[in-house]
Amino acid sequence: MSHQAPRHYLQFSDLDREEYAYLFRRSSLIKARFKRYEMHQPLVDRTLAMIFEKHSTRTRLSFEAGMHQLGGAAIYINTRDSQLGRGEPIEDAAQVFSRMVDLVMIRTYGHDIVERFAAHSRVPVINGLTNEFHPCQVLADVFTYIEHRGDIAGKTVAWVGDANNMLYTWLQAAAILGFKVHFSGPAGYGVDLQRPGYPVSEAERACLRCFDDPLQACEGAHLVTTDVWTSMGYEAENAQRMQAFQGFMVDTRMMARADAQALFMHCLPAHRGEEVQGEVIDGPQSVVWDEAENRLHVQKALMEFMLLGQLPD
Ligand code: CP
Ligand code: NVA
Repeated sequence: MSHQAPRHYLQFSDLDREEYAYLFRRSSLIKARFKRYEMHQPLVDRTLAMIFEKHSTRTRLSFEAGMHQLGGAAIYINTRDSQLGRGEPIEDAAQVFSRMVDLVMIRTYGHDIVERFAAHSRVPVINGLTNEFHPCQVLADVFTYIEHRGDIAGKTVAWVGDANNMLYTWLQAAAILGFKVHFSGPAGYGVDLQRPGYPVSEAERACLRCFDDPLQACEGAHLVTTDVWTSMGYEAENAQRMQAFQGFMVDTRMMARADAQALFMHCLPAHRGEEVQGEVIDGPQSVVWDEAENRLHVQKALMEFMLLGQLPD
């Protein structure tokens, strides 16, 4: 186990374009082997600890199944029934976790928590969602787009709804991979270019166009995507948000304004009749199940990369 400062994956911007090109190639290869029932076990005897302070279905399932399939083991820790839930400092936890496991994934509230953990960790840390970012999901989403439609460079992604952790991660991806983001959301829930602690960079700003009218945001888009109106941690604002977001449900009118080959994505869980119409998420342009499945494949490529670096095919 190395004691040199490890690399972490806390934001999408932690990797560069060339590393993403490798990860997408590697995800395809790992997925193809998995579909052929071929064993791919480069991480025998490695252990992943997964720390959850928020709910999850896909993230837990994909990391736990993924580590198992790579030949390693995964340990699920819920902060509520660990000492973290009784106030053990995150810095102390990082010291202890990283002396016992090879890799840590954390899902929590403030992004500063994963940063503080990572700063005290001897092993790589992966962000499994914070209030500010969800890089593993956008990794899966971009991979899914590439699988269905080829290179995402030069394309337009329309985001309708809340400017949340997913949207800010899409902006980082746009700046690195060279595509545009069209955003439309209600007043008061728009993109905060000066977001405290995590401002939008100039390069991200250059990829972004904001629209009052969601139909205009979707015009010619190659991918239309959205997410819940109330993210985890914001439940107290739910009633107010349900009112504010009226008119911002992704519907068949918006999909009709998008490119004829446009895809629909949603990171899930979804609320039909709120942020997305049932006809859209269950319709022919929706790739949400491929998107969910691809969490497994891209995160296997990511874990392998973080522990072993780039490998030959
Ligand atoms: N999309 C996603 O991260 O799902 P979970 O909250 O179920 O992990
Ligand atoms: N924006 C959502 C994503 C859930 C996977 C949330 O943070 O709750």
